[in-house]
Amino acid sequence: MTLVVTGGAGFIGSRFLKYYREKYPERRLVCIDKLTYAGNPRALEPFLADPGFRFLQADICDREAVEALFEAERPWAVINFAAESHVDRSISDPSVFLQTNVLGTQVLLDACRDFGGVRFHQVSTDEVYGDLPLDRPDLKFTEASPLRPGSPYSASKAAADLLALAYRHTYALPVTVSRCSNNYGPFQHPEKLIPHMIGCALKGEELPVYGTGANVRDWIHVSDHCRALDAILERGTEGEIYNVGGNCETDNLTLVKTLCGILGIPETRIAFVADRKGHDRRYAVDAGKLQTTLGWQAEIPFERGLKDTVEWYLRHREMWEQTEA
Ligand SMILES: NC(=O)c1ccc[n+]([C@@H]2O[C@H](COP(=O)([O-])OP(=O)(O)OC[C@H]3O[C@@H](n4cnc5c(N)ncnc54)[C@H](O)[C@@H]3O)[C@@H](O)[C@H]2O)c1
Repeated sequence: MTLVVTGGAGFIGSRFLKYYREKYPERRLVCIDKLTYAGNPRALEPFLADPGFRFLQADICDREAVEALFEAERPWAVINFAAESHVDRSISDPSVFLQTNVLGTQVLLDACRDFGGVRFHQVSTDEVYGDLPLDRPDLKFTEASPLRPGSPYSASKAAADLLALAYRHTYALPVTVSRCSNNYGPFQHPEKLIPHMIGCALKGEELPVYGTGANVRDWIHVSDHCRALDAILERGTEGEIYNVGGNCETDNLTLVKTLCGILGIPETRIAFVADRKGHDRRYAVDAGKLQTTLGWQAEIPFERGLKDTVEWYLRHREMWEQTEA
């Protein structure tokens, strides 16, 4: 059984490869990654000597390369992590987001269709639902909520989700989609909030917080997300969407203050900077469907997961020192 993992040199993809290799040592894993600025070849090092692992440095938009890989490997499934994933970059230049996130997904879907109906899972984000007001903590997005993406990044992810579901409807392709909240954990690119703050703290710089820091995100440990993806890939119902959330909402300022506490630095190091354009206020998903239908729930408490994550970054300073944001 060969699983194709796209974007496996990225943050979540690399954690998924690790999880999957430990859980299914007999299965073949093939990773396609373009190794953009966000891809970290060091995250693939543990797999390179594994005869059941193959790495192909390629762009998912490269139809010839993707078809040749399918021809050679005849995978049973594809899990698509490959994406441009940083909202701020999508605001500066949306083009590559549409290219990779939408057209790249189309190339993969076409290959799945043309090679006998290969199982396809699209790894998506809660950001496709847009944002929620800060004064309505009772509201959460369900899988039936309308799509109202607020950034070029989330619009490109929403387009890819819809395309994947349309391939299910039109070609009966066995497709599932998951929409997860903010992940944290080891190997995240230093441009993202938690590693960025840790990096600034260790370099003696100010910790920049957008606006007033009131924006709320739901945090989930990347290992919990990987378990959810495995459950959906193995037992999910074709054509279904599954929300994945940590049930752990916190505003950005509280999160950064918590990091100051773990790192032992004063909160006076926090600096408020001009807000992100169109900054989504609050994300929150109801992950009840995944819990009731597939028996999944998040297991890693945020306090412990965050502390472990900070310790990991402290032990691996070279990771973020070599790949500056
Ligand atoms: N990080 C989060 O909190 C989060 C939450 C929900 C969903 N997601 C989704 O999960 C997926 C993985 O996110 P991440 O945080 O690991 O992203 P990441 O930016 O860390 O990694 C993306 C990976 O994709 C590769 N890639 C980019 N363009 C490519 C292309 N054209 N062809 C082949 N490879 C390409 C990069 O080299 C990199 O290794 C994305 O689809 C993202 O939208 C992320």
